[in-house]
Amino acid sequence: MQQFDVVVIGAGAAGLFCAGVAGQRGLKVLLIDHAVKVAEKIRISGGGRCNFTNRDLDPRAPHKHYLGENPEFCRSALARYTPADFINLLQGAGIPWHEKHKGQLFCDRSADDVVQLLLRECAAGGVTHWQPCAVRAVRHVASLAGGTTYELDTERGPVQSHSLVVATGGLSIPKIGATDFGHRLARQFGLRVVTPRPALVPLTFDSSAWAPYAELAGLALPVKIEAEPPAAAPAPAPAPAGDTADGAPKRPRGKSQHTGMAFLEDLLFTHRGLSGPAVLQISSYWQEGTPLHIDLLPGQDIAAHLAEAKQQSRKLLSKELAHLLPTRLAETWTAQDPAWQRPVAETSDKALSALAERLRRWTLTPAGSEGYAKAEVTAGGVDTRELSSQTLEARAQAGLYFIGEVVDVTGWLGGYNFQWAWASAHACAMAL
Ligand code: FDA
Repeated sequence: MQQFDVVVIGAGAAGLFCAGVAGQRGLKVLLIDHAVKVAEKIRISGGGRCNFTNRDLDPRAPHKHYLGENPEFCRSALARYTPADFINLLQGAGIPWHEKHKGQLFCDRSADDVVQLLLRECAAGGVTHWQPCAVRAVRHVASLAGGTTYELDTERGPVQSHSLVVATGGLSIPKIGATDFGHRLARQFGLRVVTPRPALVPLTFDSSAWAPYAELAGLALPVKIEAEPPAAAPAPAPAPAGDTADGAPKRPRGKSQHTGMAFLEDLLFTHRGLSGPAVLQISSYWQEGTPLHIDLLPGQDIAAHLAEAKQQSRKLLSKELAHLLPTRLAETWTAQDPAWQRPVAETSDKALSALAERLRRWTLTPAGSEGYAKAEVTAGGVDTRELSSQTLEARAQAGLYFIGEVVDVTGWLGGYNFQWAWASAHACAMAL
């Protein structure tokens, strides 16, 4: 039986980073992953350039960019390992990066730069890395010295360790190795798991309801998108006038439940529904069966524009609308009502005002989502009440740690999920 100080299961973002830091602190670390390819999720992230962190992250107010039953849980870890710390690590390794919009930082060359960096950190810490290697069973036994020991049956034989770190991620993209291993292990040790669900995911509609819009697949435009608050939540505070410039929610969220969210981002039409950053962001807050509200022309006085056009133009209403919206969308939109298929000068004020109102508040109820096959992350996971926010150790199970996406901490699109992986891994590694 081989002995280690720590076994880390899952060699993704959190597991690789935790193993490297723990190894460099002098611990004897074994890192195990069942997938053939190392850190495939990092490799495909950010369109192959890995949006590795976000400069706008404010660790003092994690609820601004994270959700979960207790969004404040991640405050301690995020405050102790910040985006600047990860940037320093990259800079020390000579990895070039750049900022896109809204504080999002990407590799200049490729996400593989991050994977190779993490592998070098593990090598520098003398980490033993078994991959591919499946873990068949985990047991907790009392050691002769009276401490705790974990025994694992693995494909490469049995191992023992004082600590066990679970970094097996969420359920998204099963075809590259995602499993519910971490959730099952948590339950095995009596820890509660918040029901997992796909997040940062495209939303779908019934095919008949979506038929008029399916031909718009590929079309993108900036919108404001809002989800309704959960039925049980208190009524939202009145929104301040105007939208925030960075697309942040206009309304504050409650501690454990949001009270309605809004994002200013790009919307993308697909064959089956809606995607793009606007929809991915709102999907994390959307509750099944509830509607979304979309302002297709945020910040524009559509009624005033149409009233002016009525005075000055002899064109079809669709042609006038094409000054404001992509032509294909303007045509599809006006085709929905015979009253909108006339020259703008001949369109009634009532019809114009109905059109303006519908563009300002397009209300539609998704039938579902594209699921884990397309979701960037999994919301839910190991209940944060079961874990120490300082160390990520299970409160009732000494030596057992959960880090990264397997925990009920879900970040916004834009590098927030990787920053949680780095920060939770670091907090854990420093406590081992
Ligand atoms: P991660 O999923 O990275 O690693 C888990 C590891 O555990 C995997 O290697 C898996 O093989 C292994 N494992 C699972 N079950 C196992 C078992 N039974 N036995 C052994 N090993 C097991 N985030 C972000 O901040 N910026 C971005 O640009 C993107 N982009 C992006 C694109 C796409 C397409 C996806 C799907 C996701 C993103 N994300 C992202 C999210 C980000 O990738 C994710 O939040 C982190 O990788 C989570 O890190 P973890 O280490 O927790 O899990």
